[in-house]
Amino acid sequence: MEQFLAALRAASEATRLRILALLGKGELTVGELVDILEQSQPRVSRHLKLMGEAGILDRFQEGTQVFYRLADRGVGAALNTALLELVPEDDVTLRSDRRLLDNIRAERFAKAQDYFRANAAEWDQIRSLYVAEEEVEQALLEVQGGKPFARMLDVGTGTGRMLDVFSPLAAHAVGVDVSREMLAVARGNLAHKGLENCQVRQGDMYDLSVDDESQDLVLFHQVLHFADDPARALKEATRVLRSGGMLLIADFAPHKEEFLRDEQAHRRLGFADDEIAAMAMGAGLEQTDLRHLDGGKLRVTIWRFEKPVAGKE
Ligand SMILES: C[S@@+](CC[C@H](N)C(=O)[O-])C[C@H]1O[C@@H](n2cnc3c(N)ncnc32)[C@H](O)[C@@H]1O
Repeated sequence: MEQFLAALRAASEATRLRILALLGKGELTVGELVDILEQSQPRVSRHLKLMGEAGILDRFQEGTQVFYRLADRGVGAALNTALLELVPEDDVTLRSDRRLLDNIRAERFAKAQDYFRANAAEWDQIRSLYVAEEEVEQALLEVQGGKPFARMLDVGTGTGRMLDVFSPLAAHAVGVDVSREMLAVARGNLAHKGLENCQVRQGDMYDLSVDDESQDLVLFHQVLHFADDPARALKEATRVLRSGGMLLIADFAPHKEEFLRDEQAHRRLGFADDEIAAMAMGAGLEQTDLRHLDGGKLRVTIWRFEKPVAGKE
């Protein structure tokens, strides 16, 4: 009761409702909120602090930037959902806030695309070495089974493409990446496509910073070859999977394209089927599917593992 009242009190003020309505469209930095709300930074920060303490917002730091987003669990999350349904969408102030938000997102998107373009040539070169990405995406959806689920984590999300692919099935999807530039690209893409059930945040495959047993699906799409300790990354993925949850890995089969190591920082030139299987089983998972996609110089392999349900044979 006390927690609920605190959350209600924290939301019941005009600027704070505006903040809730804005964050309902996606996470924002303090600076972005200051620009949209046209209030001083200390004032906006005070509101944010109060809302954070009351459990209706989450705060996270990425390098020098502090981001805010709606709480996604507990009383705060339930209250936010109810309030967002009730705020008058056609209110003049809220409409103007949304316009400013759209401008900020368009700027962000353009900036991120510049970075993406600057690196696109290298990515195109790699893509030309294997089957069309649409085929890999289709195969991943098939291997997953096309079943809706609550929570997923896309490790090494890059441009956020996998979030886009799986978002129709996920109630809530989070992409994690070490690179701030890639996160900017992903954020731009998610906002551009209006994928409100997806978020990205900075994080490391060895320390995903999410609760134990909290995810239905963890995905590594073309990421594990960057790992210097893939077995440790799979242990961390297993930790966050709920029992019965699924780990999907798509990566190259063993190959000899040394330029990927020299120029693209690939640590591993692909993985043998049983190498990944041994690592995943060492982490406590069971293999439930394996697929190969040929059609270029490099073979793409998809592995599916599941975390056993305790007590089940
Ligand atoms: C080939 S790219 C993106 C692939 C992406 N999953 C996709 O489907 O488009 C690989 C990504 O892994 C990220 N990465 C590399 N090492 C990482 C680590 N230790 N933790 C998290 N992400 C990492 C890179 O920043 C990069 O964005």
